[in-house]
Amino acid sequence: MFRLDGKVAVITGAGGLLGRHHALALNRHGANVVLTDVNPSLCEPTRRALDEEGGPESLMLACDVANRESWHAMIRDVLKHFGKVDVLVNNAAYTNQSQSAGYGASFLETALSDWSAIIEVNLTGAFLGCQIVGEVMLAAGRGSIVNIASLYAMVSPNHRIYPGTGIHQPAAYSVSKAGVLALTRYLATLWADRGVRVNAITPGGVFAGHTAPFKQRYEELNPMKRMAHPWEMSGALVYLASDASSYCVGHNLVVDGGWTAW
Ligand SMILES: NC(=O)c1ccc[n+]([C@@H]2O[C@H](COP(=O)([O-])OP(=O)(O)OC[C@H]3O[C@@H](n4cnc5c(N)ncnc54)[C@H](O)[C@@H]3O)[C@@H](O)[C@H]2O)c1
Repeated sequence: MFRLDGKVAVITGAGGLLGRHHALALNRHGANVVLTDVNPSLCEPTRRALDEEGGPESLMLACDVANRESWHAMIRDVLKHFGKVDVLVNNAAYTNQSQSAGYGASFLETALSDWSAIIEVNLTGAFLGCQIVGEVMLAAGRGSIVNIASLYAMVSPNHRIYPGTGIHQPAAYSVSKAGVLALTRYLATLWADRGVRVNAITPGGVFAGHTAPFKQRYEELNPMKRMAHPWEMSGALVYLASDASSYCVGHNLVVDGGWTAW
C-alpha cells in the first residue's frame, strides 16, 4: 500500500535540500517524478541520481510557484508527457538556504516588499499549486497533495537561539507556514469526498551546514538532542502520497524529533 507504481508526482522547489530527498523517496517507491524549481538547473544533480538508480522516468521543468502562468506552463508539459498528475508536493519556499532579499532583517526593519515576497512564494505558491493542480486532480477524481509546512507554523521560533548564529526566522516565514496549514485543512474538507486528499508535513530543523552555535543551541532544546537528517521526512511523504493514507485528510504529520511535544 506504500507503493506508487504508475503514479506521477510533481515536486516544487525540488532543487533544494529536502526536494532531492522527496524525489528519491517517491521515485524509489515507483513514481515518475517531475522535479520543478524556479531555478531548474538546481535539480540537475537529483535528476542524474534518479537516472543512475534506473527507476521510473523523471522530468525536470521550470516552475516559479508565485507565478500563475508558470504553473500552467509546467502542468501543460506534465500532462503532455505523462497524461496525468497524481501527487503534488508543495515544497518550494524562501528559507534560510534560499533567502529572499531582506530575509535577515529584524522584525522592526522588515520591508513590506520582503514580507510580501515571502508570503507570495511560501503561501500563495501553495495556493496556486492547489488551485491549478487540484483542478486537474478533481477532474480525474483522484490525487494527493502534500503541503510542506514547518514547526514554526505551530510554535514560535525560540528567539533566544538565533543571535550571533547567522540563522534568521522572519515573521513572514512563520505566518506563511501557518497559512499553509490552514489552507491544508480548508481544502482537505472541501475535497474529501471528491477523491483528492490534502495533508501536510511539518518538518523540524534539518541539518544543512548550520553554524556550530546554532546547532548546539537547537540540539540542547530538542528532545532527541539532534537536528533531522534530510531523508527523515521521506517516510511521512511516502505515507501521505500513497494509498497507505487513503482515509487521511487534513492531517499535519509532525516530524520534529519532539520539538513541539514539550
Ligand atoms: N530544512 C529545514 O530545516 C526545514 C524545516 C521546516 C520546514 N522546511 C520546509 O521544507 C521545504 C523545503 O525546505 P529546504 O530545506 O529544502 O529549503 P531549500 O531552501 O533548500 O529549498 C527550497 C527550494 O525552493 C526553491 N524556490 C525558491 N523560490 C521559489 C519559487 N518562487 N518557485 C519555485 N521554487 C522556488 C529554491 O530554488 C530551492 O531550490 C520548505 O517549504 C521549507 O520551508 C524545511
